[in-house]
Amino acid sequence: MRVLVIGSGAREHALCVALQADPAVTALACAPGNAGTAAVAEPHPVDAADPVAVAALATAWSADLVVVGPEVPLVAGVADAVREAGVACFGPGAQAAQIEGSKAFAKHVMTAAGVPTAQAWPVGTEAELHTALDEVAALNAPGSPYVVKDDGLAAGKGVVVTPDRDAALAHGLAVLEGGHPVLVEEYLDGPEVSLFAVTDGTTVLPLLPAQDHKRRDDGDGGPNTGGMGAYAPLPWAPDGLVDEVLARVLQPTVDEMARRGEPFSGLLYAGLALTSRGVRVVEFNARFGDPETEVVLPLLRTPLAGLLHAAATGTLADHPPLEWADGAAVVVVVAAPGYPASPRTGSPITGADGEGVLHAGTRLAADGTVHSAGGRVLAVTAVGTDLADARRVAYERVAGVRLDGAHWRTDIGLAALEGRIGV
Ligand code: AMP
Ligand code: GLY
Repeated sequence: MRVLVIGSGAREHALCVALQADPAVTALACAPGNAGTAAVAEPHPVDAADPVAVAALATAWSADLVVVGPEVPLVAGVADAVREAGVACFGPGAQAAQIEGSKAFAKHVMTAAGVPTAQAWPVGTEAELHTALDEVAALNAPGSPYVVKDDGLAAGKGVVVTPDRDAALAHGLAVLEGGHPVLVEEYLDGPEVSLFAVTDGTTVLPLLPAQDHKRRDDGDGGPNTGGMGAYAPLPWAPDGLVDEVLARVLQPTVDEMARRGEPFSGLLYAGLALTSRGVRVVEFNARFGDPETEVVLPLLRTPLAGLLHAAATGTLADHPPLEWADGAAVVVVVAAPGYPASPRTGSPITGADGEGVLHAGTRLAADGTVHSAGGRVLAVTAVGTDLADARRVAYERVAGVRLDGAHWRTDIGLAALEGRIGV
């Protein structure tokens, strides 16, 4: 099977590593890719968000399967164009990708499917914003933060969670001025879980739950980011969590999308909060999460290309149950100075070819050296016998990397290890 991966981050590097390990894969390409993917997959220049260009590449390269990594190409209709060109594609079409692209659409689907989620107020004007902030304050427990979201694609960066009403108001106004609608949401207490499911639009196969660390600094301080690190599985997760989320969230959502005539195939990512009132969906994404993919895929024993091909061709019902390795995995994101607000790029990196080091934002310079090219630069991974072991090895590997001014969290998986997370 010839597999073409679209994207250029650590998620795509992790996908390439897992696909390369599948004996069914005879050729692997990653477009446009980065300095790390180029070591395992043929690089091809392409505008990943251009459906015509991606479909042309898939045809020219004789791909048997295209795997679309990021949300922007999915929302732009890349998967539709690839399928129209007669090539199997893992990833939802543009309409189904609205489950990530529009938070308001996702809320409609959840309401219709009876999926538990935070109460939300869609806001289009300053007056509505004031009313929504007053109403949510009355609903939330006293002293709870306000949650104000940009209803568009913002990769987790369009959300402000703050106890300060003025700051919540200012964010909402800024989003409105930018021409986007705003959502004000009920505050969800409790730990967050990322649960991915592979689906062909009918059958749903959940993967292992993982936990992301979205804030920039140790102890969950600083601004929200795309994700600073993750671990899997979750030693503190309640028994039966995956079955419950499959029955109450994932399957009803996939069924509702099919009922609407917008079947969702690909990767359905449920961002969950395990609140004092039960499981709630924080958000859906239409693709593998980054950095969670970098800890989930290394634990998957089932060959990945066969799984994704079955999802892309509507044959998941016949797929054998997924098999998982014992142990745990940890990923630590090494970020550029200034990330997330204004990352400095273009700096040389050494140690980027170390074991377990996945590339997020890197490029090969003309002289063959690796340079930073994004906010999240490297995703340093390790698999261990348990969470403590995986953490130890991951941080040893981080110590082998050099990037001037880089920063990373030192506490990925630590609260779980110390038993400080509970439901
Ligand atoms: P989103 O872009 O919807 O994924 O939100 C990014 C992050 O903001 C989430 O991962 C949470 O940490 C936080 N967040 C979003 N919505 C809520 C909510 N209703 N209650 C508490 N935290 C939230
Ligand atoms: N890790 C968060 C995301 O992929 O959206």
